[in-house]
Amino acid sequence: MENGKWKIKTAKKLPKITLVGAGPGDADLITRKGIKALQSADVVLYDALVNIELLEEVPDTAIKIYVGKRANKHAFKQEEINKMLVAYAYKHGHVVRLKGGDAFVFGRGQEEMAFAKQLGVQVEVVPGISSCISVAELQHVPVTARGVSESFWVITGTTRAGQLSRDIELAAQSTATVIILMGIRKLEEIRQLFIKEGRFDTPAMVVQNGSRVNERKVVGTIDTIVEQAREATIGTPGIIIIGDVVRLHPEFVEQAIEEQTQIIQRQAA
Ligand SMILES: C[S@@+](CC[C@H](N)C(=O)[O-])C[C@H]1O[C@@H](n2cnc3c(N)ncnc32)[C@H](O)[C@@H]1O
Repeated sequence: MENGKWKIKTAKKLPKITLVGAGPGDADLITRKGIKALQSADVVLYDALVNIELLEEVPDTAIKIYVGKRANKHAFKQEEINKMLVAYAYKHGHVVRLKGGDAFVFGRGQEEMAFAKQLGVQVEVVPGISSCISVAELQHVPVTARGVSESFWVITGTTRAGQLSRDIELAAQSTATVIILMGIRKLEEIRQLFIKEGRFDTPAMVVQNGSRVNERKVVGTIDTIVEQAREATIGTPGIIIIGDVVRLHPEFVEQAIEEQTQIIQRQAA
């Protein structure tokens, strides 16, 4: 009470945005720092590939807004999301932008960060476990392996113009592990680029919903993978992994052991 009037506290929180990578889908594959950010959020804007179990970490009082996109249907345009992030930060304080995988791997996190900074909002980045590495790893396939693969390329199957990236053609000429995101619908086109290089036998696998309870996969070669994916009705979101490292997948290893056993048995007979 001051001069007979109630003094209302208007001290606002500092506007701040935290870009948090939510990991590939399993709710446990987020960082501790990501969880802490969620626990201190006043507003959360989250994407389609984020596990919504993570929203249980957010205070009840916080505003939660779905801004995702599936199959080219956008809940909001990117420009609208940029503006919402800034407006909510100024109005409510701490905004967490929760994105699938890592916010900077085909995640447009950099665009959101640049827009917010321009308008004077502080931005923190909490890296996430990107699907580009983790989905293969969860299948026991390393993206590099001594003596097998010296590098890996992570490439988009859908550029801004909706096309395959030209980099896939270049990667098909290399010995690198090739990891393609957003390419499921163009699997046959991708296969053709490898066939052009005579790489029929190169191992390949496709994983849908990696790390989630509804995860599905097919493991084969460039020659067989399109048919296998079609038969198994593998859809989006999915990742394509091509290269000799896929030979380290347990299905390949088991097959190799079986073939060796048969050879030994034949020789012994
Ligand atoms: C817009 S990109 C975002 C990638 C994300 N920022 C990351 O680091 O994983 C979306 C694409 O990532 C891939 N993806 C993301 N999560 C996946 C998952 N759990 N399983 C398979 N593919 C996934 C799919 O190719 C999907 O179309």
